[in-house]
Amino acid sequence: MRIKDFKVEQWMNEWETKCRYNVAETCTYSVTLDQLFDICGGSRDEFMDEFASRRLTYGDIEGNPAFLEGICGLYETVRPEHVITTHGAAGANFLVLSTLVNPGDDVVCVMPTYQQLYSIPEMCGANVHILHLEREDHYHVDPVKLEALCDENTKLITINNPDNPTGALLSREELQVIVDIARKYDAWLMCDEVYRLLVQDDDAFTTSPIDLYDKAVVVSSMSKVWSLAGIRLGWCITKSEELRHDLLSHRDYDLISCGMFDEAVAAYALAHADKILEARGRHDGARLLRLRHRLVRLLRAHDADRRRAGHAWRRLRGAQVHAHRLCVQRQRGRPQGRPGGHQPLPAYVGIARSFREPALTHPWPARPILRE
Ligand SMILES: Cc1ncc(COP(=O)(O)O)c(C=O)c1O
Repeated sequence: MRIKDFKVEQWMNEWETKCRYNVAETCTYSVTLDQLFDICGGSRDEFMDEFASRRLTYGDIEGNPAFLEGICGLYETVRPEHVITTHGAAGANFLVLSTLVNPGDDVVCVMPTYQQLYSIPEMCGANVHILHLEREDHYHVDPVKLEALCDENTKLITINNPDNPTGALLSREELQVIVDIARKYDAWLMCDEVYRLLVQDDDAFTTSPIDLYDKAVVVSSMSKVWSLAGIRLGWCITKSEELRHDLLSHRDYDLISCGMFDEAVAAYALAHADKILEARGRHDGARLLRLRHRLVRLLRAHDADRRRAGHAWRRLRGAQVHAHRLCVQRQRGRPQGRPGGHQPLPAYVGIARSFREPALTHPWPARPILRE
């Protein structure tokens, strides 16, 4: 397999620990274990004592049952035997795509999105057909354009809902139309929904395609919504027994099982899911939202789904390199955005949702956009 550089991750690797303010962070502000116990109201000592008495084996190869139950609670129709645990959503995306896609397969992928979703199929030798998400569609999937890229050879459609980096959030009705297209061509529908539930409006609850379609495969993790990127835990879900067998068989080669401690923390967090969502709501309170909107305005970025999904996205007038340079220049004491120019598109800059408040109170120049 010829590996393509994962540009946004390389960018983040280089800058995220060096910049003063990081507005490119996509996780809801990560918590410490102590903060987790505070939010959930449980006893840290009880949890630690219980764990300290356990032998550190490979644990439950197919996932800690309490963790699997916690995941099922996030969906309408998912049962533990549908879930496969992984090393983050990144691990789940890689597992699903490298298991499903073979050389010569036709795969339809949205863009812009998280690079894994189109680069892994390419690396697997697929014919990748890109569905460009357009500003005039508010970066939502246009079903007519999607269907134009599909035919009876289409093996897989990949989407990301809510989408990173545009923030576009597809409704249940829109997902149903995409599902109908996938069903018509008997294609798998893979949805990276790592930002699912990360919406500002209570009525913007995100439906999962796993609850709509038997050939859906969905991916998520503990990183973004649950503020626990440090435990590196994710999952993929399929209701197909055959695909599950292939995914587990593939996973035996590179994972065996996820960490026992990580799964125990994740199970604890999901058992208190409501409390974490409520605490997150407090963190993302009205003041923070107002400040975020100010930053979005200053950058003249475009909120695809204002007050709904988190990310904002702006097209710059310059070439790709300018978006990159803009973000590099911003390192000098200024908030960091992600250069969308890393994607094969004109220059864009992205603002993620989950930065700390100080990033927003830092004075930005009134005209922050490059003129070079
Ligand atoms: C859309 C999307 N999928 C997957 C990931 C990887 O997440 P994880 O930390 O769970 O590996 C990211 C991280 O930014 C992402 O934005």
